[in-house]
Amino acid sequence: MSKVDQRISDLARHTYGTWRRQELWKHPLLIEDAEGVYMFDASGKRYMDFSSQLICSNLGHKNGTVMEAIAKQASKLPYVSPGFTTQAAIDAVEALRTVMPEGLEMFFFSTSGTEANEAALKMVRQYKAPSYKILSRYRSYHGATASSLTFTGDPRRILAEQARCTIDGVRFAPDAYCYRCPFNLKHPDCGIQCARYVDYMIREEGNVAGIIVEPVVGTNGRIVPPPEYFPLLRKICDQNGVLLIVDEVMTGWYRTGKAFAVEHWNVTPDILTMAKGCTAAYAPAGVTVTTNEIANFFEGETFDHGHTYAYHPLVLSAIPAAVAEYKKLMDSGLPQRVSDHLKNRLYKLGEEHPCIGDVRGMGHFWALELVKNRETKEPFNVKADKFSRVDLVTNKVATDAMSQGLYVLAWYDNLIIAPPLIISEAEVDEAIQILDKSLTIADEETVKTSVPFSRSSEFGTS
Ligand SMILES: Cc1ncc(COP(=O)(O)O)c(C=O)c1O
Repeated sequence: MSKVDQRISDLARHTYGTWRRQELWKHPLLIEDAEGVYMFDASGKRYMDFSSQLICSNLGHKNGTVMEAIAKQASKLPYVSPGFTTQAAIDAVEALRTVMPEGLEMFFFSTSGTEANEAALKMVRQYKAPSYKILSRYRSYHGATASSLTFTGDPRRILAEQARCTIDGVRFAPDAYCYRCPFNLKHPDCGIQCARYVDYMIREEGNVAGIIVEPVVGTNGRIVPPPEYFPLLRKICDQNGVLLIVDEVMTGWYRTGKAFAVEHWNVTPDILTMAKGCTAAYAPAGVTVTTNEIANFFEGETFDHGHTYAYHPLVLSAIPAAVAEYKKLMDSGLPQRVSDHLKNRLYKLGEEHPCIGDVRGMGHFWALELVKNRETKEPFNVKADKFSRVDLVTNKVATDAMSQGLYVLAWYDNLIIAPPLIISEAEVDEAIQILDKSLTIADEETVKTSVPFSRSSEFGTS
């Protein structure tokens, strides 16, 4: 074993790998450098980043403007207590206010998406007391702490429940998952039952304070809701006095083509949370934004929340720089052009690979849901397989792609296609060429049918 390999093994022996059995954390890949849409390992091997790391490196790697802003702040004033304020905070809020949907005006800054949602939970429960119940959806991820995992629907909650690391007062609403409609209905004849059932839940449950939703579901499937869903959900919340929290941790910052995904449906939530993209991952930010109505409530009430690193100047210094870079990028028209190309290339993959059941998404945020059988939609793997010893088919495809120089994240039933927004058409083609080869691994385990792949996010076109 080389000296470097030995040191990597030692590192693994002395650190906890995230979200995995530790026997699977023996020799992590050492990344030495990253630039644009590529990263490089210690041997110099190049990998295209087709998932923006954890769907956060929206501006790609080594953006000079953002790096410079942080370096400048580090040499000027790296830290003061959140009981003071800084020029970095003033600049960050000013920059954010130029892109926030109208009506969202009050900010709290933390250091992760999880914390952004924790803050939202506390606000909702204080504001709506004595109502306290939170509705979420099964296809969701909202963070790693006890409370945010409780209102997460994915397999990570199941383990947290077994470890008794959850809170009370959370209920799950149906997903707006047209490819596998929980009511077995078909849009547009469905009457948007997935939203209507929320109304029924709220009235029957009682004590519901808020509902938290990802506008386009992230890790759990890039599920784009029907166009009627969000306006109807907003109406149901208003009629029942329930707060609408949108978790834009993954979908924010032009990932879906607009600054925030909820803007696709002209709906303003009561609380919006974000993280990842707001610094393009150059610094760990979490942001909770509320309406003035909620802000006014806290004028006379203690905001029972804070952290040592709340309003951290290094984090905040990255925000105005990132905002400026996003604006420049969107003005160039590149992301808009490439997202169309990306969609067409993914649809082409759908035509050529029988393992692809559904191709869905928007902007630079797409899912390839893999199935064993397109006709029955029988999946290769299910939720319970995620943390089992079952060899996930999606993982087999992603591992093969990685060996060919393409980093693409795999969840238990889908591949996460979410490249940095700076990616070019030619770079998309390079990635697709690799995926095209890797997907044959799943094709071999597929029952051949004559059923075409589904395009479940193409509402109104079929
Ligand atoms: C929708 C959503 N919410 C919250 C989180 C948690 O964010 P973080 O990992 O920064 O705590 C994530 C992370 O992937 C996410 O995708």
